[in-house]
Amino acid sequence: MSTDDEALQRAIERIGGDLAAAFPSSARHPLKALDARAMEMASSDQELKAALFRFVDVVPACRSLDDLARHLTGFLDQVPERTPPLAAAMRLGDTKTGRKALGAAAAGGVKHMAHRFIVGETPGSALGVLRQLWLRGVASSVDLLGEATVTESEADAYAARCTSALEELASAARSWSSRPALERDGTGPLPRANLSVKVSALTPLLRPDAPDLGRRDAAGRLRPLLRRAAALDAHLHIDMESFDSLEAVLDLVLELFSEDEFRTGPSAGIVIQAYLRDSPQQLEQVLDWARATNRTTPLLIRLVKGAYWDHEIVEARQHGWPTPVYEVKADCDRNFEALTRTLLAARPGVRVAVASHNLRSVAHAIAVNRLAGADDRDLEIQVLRGLGDDLQDALAARGFRVRTYCPVGDLVAGMAYLVRRLLENTSNESFLHEQARGASLEELLAAP
Ligand code: FAD
Ligand code: 2OP
Repeated sequence: MSTDDEALQRAIERIGGDLAAAFPSSARHPLKALDARAMEMASSDQELKAALFRFVDVVPACRSLDDLARHLTGFLDQVPERTPPLAAAMRLGDTKTGRKALGAAAAGGVKHMAHRFIVGETPGSALGVLRQLWLRGVASSVDLLGEATVTESEADAYAARCTSALEELASAARSWSSRPALERDGTGPLPRANLSVKVSALTPLLRPDAPDLGRRDAAGRLRPLLRRAAALDAHLHIDMESFDSLEAVLDLVLELFSEDEFRTGPSAGIVIQAYLRDSPQQLEQVLDWARATNRTTPLLIRLVKGAYWDHEIVEARQHGWPTPVYEVKADCDRNFEALTRTLLAARPGVRVAVASHNLRSVAHAIAVNRLAGADDRDLEIQVLRGLGDDLQDALAARGFRVRTYCPVGDLVAGMAYLVRRLLENTSNESFLHEQARGASLEELLAAP
C-alpha cells in the first residue's frame, strides 16, 4: 500500500467510524424493521425469495383478502422446503376464515414495507415529511413513482403529474426556513424543490431497437417540464433505468441540455451507474459534453451502483449476451470508487452527488474530497428514504449536505420500485445485509 493509500484508508476509517458511532442501536436497522422473518427466510432460500417477489408483484391487482391469500399460498406451494411457518401459512389457506386472516396479514406486511419506502400517495401528502426533513438539515428529491408506461395517454398523465408536483413543491418550499448548508455550494445557489423522473414513464416508445423514436417522444414531454422547472427555480433529475434504455436516455438528456433554451437552466442532473462495465466511458462522454457546453448551471451527476442488477443478469443470460454489469460485487465497488475520484476531480465543471448506503463508499467519497483540499459542501451525499435514514441523520448532524430520495405514489405505481429494494437488500452481498448480520466496522470499511 502506498503512503497515499494508507492516508486515504486512515481518513476513511476516521470518517466512517465517526458516522457509524452516530447510528442508533441495531433495533432500528432498516432491514430489521422490515418484516424481519420474511426477509431472513427470503435471503437464505432462493425459491422462497422468488415466491415472495412474485407475490409482491400481484398484490395491487388482488381484489379481496381471499384472493390475496389464494395467490400467496399458490406461490408458496411452489417452494419445495416446508419450514414450520410456511406450513402454518399453507394450513391457513385451507379455509375461508383462515384465508381472510392470511390475506390481511400479507396485505399488512406489504403495506408496512411500502410505507417505509414511499413517503405519500401524492406530492401534497408528502409535503409534511419533506418539510420535517428540511428542518432537520436534510434536502430531498421527490420521485414520482411510475415507469415503463405503455400508452401515450399514460405518458401524458405522468408528465402532468410531474408539472403539478413541481408547482406544489416549489410553492411549499418557499416557506421553509433558511438552511444555508442545503442551499448553496461553491458554484452557487441550489434549488430547494427537486424532482426525479424516469424517461420510461414519459414515453411508451423507449425501445432499444428504435432509440430515436423514444427519444423524440420523450423530448416532447421533457421540454415543457424543463421550462416549468426553470421558471419555478426547481431542479429536475433524470434517473437512469435498465441498460436497454441507457443510450436513448443519455443521448436525450445531453441533446436537450445542449439546446440554447436550456443552457442557462434549470438546474438538472443525470445518473451514472457504476455496476456497468462501460460506465467509465459513459462518464467520460458526459464530462466531455460538460467541458464543451460549459453550462451556466453545472450538470449534477449522481453516481450510483445500479438498481437493475438482477434484471440485467437474467436478461443477458436469457439471450446469451455478455452481461453489461460486473458480476463480482467488489469489482463494482472498486469501480464506484474510481468513478468517485474522476467525478470529484471534474469539478467545478459538474456538481457531484454520491448516492449510496454503503458506509465505505460514502466515507471514501468524503475522504477523497477532503484530502484534495475541497470543501465538504462541494459534495452531496444522497440516500433512499427508508434505507438510509440513520446515515442521513448522521450526515446531517455533521453538517454534510445530504439529500433523501423520496418516492411518492400509490402501491401499484410503486410495486416495481419496492421489488427492486427487496431484491437488492435480500442479497447476501448488500452492504446493509452485511451490517445487519453484525460485520465489524473494520470489515465494513475495508477496501473492496
Ligand atoms: P451496496 O450494498 O454497497 O451495493 C449494492 C449494489 O451493488 C447493488 O444494487 C448492485 O448495483 C451492485 N451489486 C450487487 N451484487 C453485485 C455483484 N454480484 N456484482 C456486481 N455488482 C453487484 N439506481 C439506478 O439504477 N438508477 C437511479 O437513478 C438510481 N437513483 C438512486 C438515487 C439515490 C438517492 C440512491 C441512494 C440510490 C439510487 N439508485 C439508483 C440505487 C442504487 O443504484 C443502488 O441500487 C443502491 O443504492 C444500493 O447500493 P449501495 O451502494 O447503497 O449498497
Ligand atoms: C429506482 O427506481 C432508485 O431510481 C432507483 O430503483
